[in-house]
Amino acid sequence: MPSPSLPAPSSSADPVPRCPVLDPSGSALQEEAAELLAAGPAVLVELPGPVRAWSVTRHSVIQALTTDPRVSRDFRRHWPGAADAPEGWALAAVAFQDSFFNMYGAEHRTARGRIAPAFSPRRVELMRPQVQATADRLVAALGEVPPGAEVDLRQALSLPLTMTVICDLFGVPEESREALGHAIDTVLDSTLGPAEALAAQAELHTRISAFIAHKRSHPGPDLTTDLLIGDGDGGAPGREPIPDPVLIGTMFAMIGAGYETAVNLITSAVQELLDHPAHLAEVRAGTIGWADVVEETLRLDGPVMHLPLRYALAEIDLGEGVVIPAGDPIVIGFAAAGRDPEVHPSCPAEFDPARADKSHLAFGYGPHFCLGAHLARLEAQVALATLFGRLPDLAAARPGERPERIASIMVNGPARLDVVPRPAAAVPPPR
Ligand code: HEM
Repeated sequence: MPSPSLPAPSSSADPVPRCPVLDPSGSALQEEAAELLAAGPAVLVELPGPVRAWSVTRHSVIQALTTDPRVSRDFRRHWPGAADAPEGWALAAVAFQDSFFNMYGAEHRTARGRIAPAFSPRRVELMRPQVQATADRLVAALGEVPPGAEVDLRQALSLPLTMTVICDLFGVPEESREALGHAIDTVLDSTLGPAEALAAQAELHTRISAFIAHKRSHPGPDLTTDLLIGDGDGGAPGREPIPDPVLIGTMFAMIGAGYETAVNLITSAVQELLDHPAHLAEVRAGTIGWADVVEETLRLDGPVMHLPLRYALAEIDLGEGVVIPAGDPIVIGFAAAGRDPEVHPSCPAEFDPARADKSHLAFGYGPHFCLGAHLARLEAQVALATLFGRLPDLAAARPGERPERIASIMVNGPARLDVVPRPAAAVPPPR
């Protein structure tokens, strides 16, 4: 199998064939993924842990494997190596998450079906006024900063918007949100050593358990009460209560996926527009819409890169001499598919919201397709329209400079984005 020019594992005495090591800092996720994509339909890589898995980054192969019944997300039933995963594994919070996210077949369909109706296009459209009101409030605060002052847009808009929307939906009390968000950010950091990873996972578990206990004693008009806490706990009649570990995993799946992704979509889209004023002008002229900007950002830099893990239930022959053995883990690189030159032969790494074909797999594919896709698109379109509508002079603090990236192989996005909401030159001098 051809091997990309990524660093190889350090031990030369390793009896297992050499394979590239993914950089846990995620500092060049797209560049790394492009090498993997060129190297074959699947490439055996070393994930932080270390754990070896078949990295799949091509659009057509992702579509094939995410719909192949011989591929499962269920680590309990279908990963013979699960017990050998290292203690304090930095990816364990996602790979071993106890929720429908890691279920297979009929069990997955039933558990997902309990929550999915709450995220239908019609239900999401009903959330628009609340999303708009939150965006209005946050952008108004940005408009109040003194002329020339720098602000991190991620902290000032993208994060509080997406966190407010998902926490309001699930009834997370205001006072717990910041700490919960911090706990989720920390478990997604793939540079953590074993002791730090265990501490971060325990912290997240404690925070979500405390939240669930609070909801049991304070039920409210929210999705946690309506959908997740079962019969005996004041939930909908006739529904089986969800066991606590699954409840905790499901809350992590919903809140973590709900904000950690959309926050990066909004921040990346703002960064691209500030770096490409001609495209911003096209939106202002009405030649292209905010939806085009959002789809192009999803294509170019989807917020989810290597998502652990799936497992081969049987030997899978992908052609080009690559055969995934039964029982082996597979890691899908969703954000790589949007730059696949097979699908986008013309300048796949360039931001061009006017391009006709913006197809991507940023929200996944098949039975696990993102439940929050409509909500994420709504949040991003509202955030962009409100931000650029109200602050027409918004500028990058350091134009052309690439911001530091999130320290994760899973999450793809800028760790911060410094902007100047009211450039000093744009403010009229006092008379
Ligand atoms: C730009 C924003 C988002 C992106 C890029 C994104 C991406 C993804 C991807 C790639 C998957 C597929 C996982 C797989 O097949 O292994 C997924 C699944 C999922 N997403 Fe999202 N997501 C986003 C926003 C959201 C939001 C706002 C929510 C919550 C409301 C959400 C909830 C979920 C859930 C629950 C699943 C698991 C579905 C299942 O396993 O059946 N996501 N997402």
